[in-house]
Amino acid sequence: MKAVILVGGQGTRLRPLTVGVPKPMVPLANKPFVSYVLEHLRQNGVNEVVFSMGYLPDGIKSYFGDGSDFGIKLTYAVEDHPLGTAGAVKNVEQHIQDGDFLVLNGDILTDLDLRALVEFHRQKGASGTISLTPVDDPTAYGLVRTGAEGEVLGFLEKPSWDQIDTNLINAGTYALKAEVLDMIPAGVEYSFERGVFPRLVGGGLFGFSSDSYWMDIGTPEKYLQAHYDILEKNVRTAVSVCLNEDYVCVEGDVRLEAGAKLVPPVIIGAGSVINSGARVGRMAVIGPGCVVGTGSVVEESVIQADSMLEEDVTVRRSIIARGAQIGPGTVVTAGAVVGEEATVEGNNVLANNIRVYPGTVIKAGTIRF
Ligand code: GTP
Repeated sequence: MKAVILVGGQGTRLRPLTVGVPKPMVPLANKPFVSYVLEHLRQNGVNEVVFSMGYLPDGIKSYFGDGSDFGIKLTYAVEDHPLGTAGAVKNVEQHIQDGDFLVLNGDILTDLDLRALVEFHRQKGASGTISLTPVDDPTAYGLVRTGAEGEVLGFLEKPSWDQIDTNLINAGTYALKAEVLDMIPAGVEYSFERGVFPRLVGGGLFGFSSDSYWMDIGTPEKYLQAHYDILEKNVRTAVSVCLNEDYVCVEGDVRLEAGAKLVPPVIIGAGSVINSGARVGRMAVIGPGCVVGTGSVVEESVIQADSMLEEDVTVRRSIIARGAQIGPGTVVTAGAVVGEEATVEGNNVLANNIRVYPGTVIKAGTIRF
């Protein structure tokens, strides 16, 4: 079976992490996010994938190549203007044979049983099957109503509490018959969610509900949560093996100076240095080539590759992107995101979800939130 992975979006909600890096290449526990999607497909027996791209396609192509290093045959298509989720699949029609195929949003971390999804789809003789996942706050999403046999009865966009009779939402993975492509206009923006699926209600559209792990990594908050879930092994990934029983994953040569402390669960990338008196964890991911300075603390946070934290820096529930520099005594906390190669000099306090754009320089002692 073939799969199309949609990776053409701009990832606006994840900015500034996606200003210079497309969302699929943003590192999740030190590997490009979409490599987890490929690994999941391969484990489910899918070995041919089409990447449907638009925004910043080059980094994806050069990293994954023809896919042979990842055990998957990869093909690429690049849109010159955004075609929306369904338009993007229509655009790769020539790569899809008759029969069934899968479509996956490229920003979902899940261990959904894809074989079971396809089996359900075939058993029902469905034109399309949408994977569904339950959510705690149904008012924030588009809900999907299904009948006794799993047939989709309708969609409910961001309903009020009195309208709610389900907590199932579209989980962004679909099994489709190739005939569905005939419903999609070519070369124009068209969406599955608002175009194809509402038109397919009553015409062989089914929902496959599952309580597998599911996380859309589209915002900084969820990006952090996905890391916590990997660290706590709430989702099965290749990283779970490295985390072992002690929940400490050290990826290669790491220098841990005397008096430096790792508090599990924690992942440290190759070539990083943790100086004396520094504490990393619990719930921290340090990318390769980072320095955590003397007396610094990193917890519930992600530090991407090649970043430098000087002495007595505190990073808590925050994200530091690749190549950033954080000066002595600075505190980065409460959902702050520091973009690539930004410099935050000493004695600043960044909090309240502040987002620092790539390359910005914040002088010493200028922000005290
Ligand atoms: P936001 O801008 O933060 O909403 O993120 P996004 O651009 O990724 O949009 P969204 O999360 O709604 O997209 C869901 C999935 O579809 C993501 O994997 C996107 O990469 C992908 N996607 C969205 N629009 C397009 C498009 O026009 N073309 C292609 N090829 N993929 C798309």
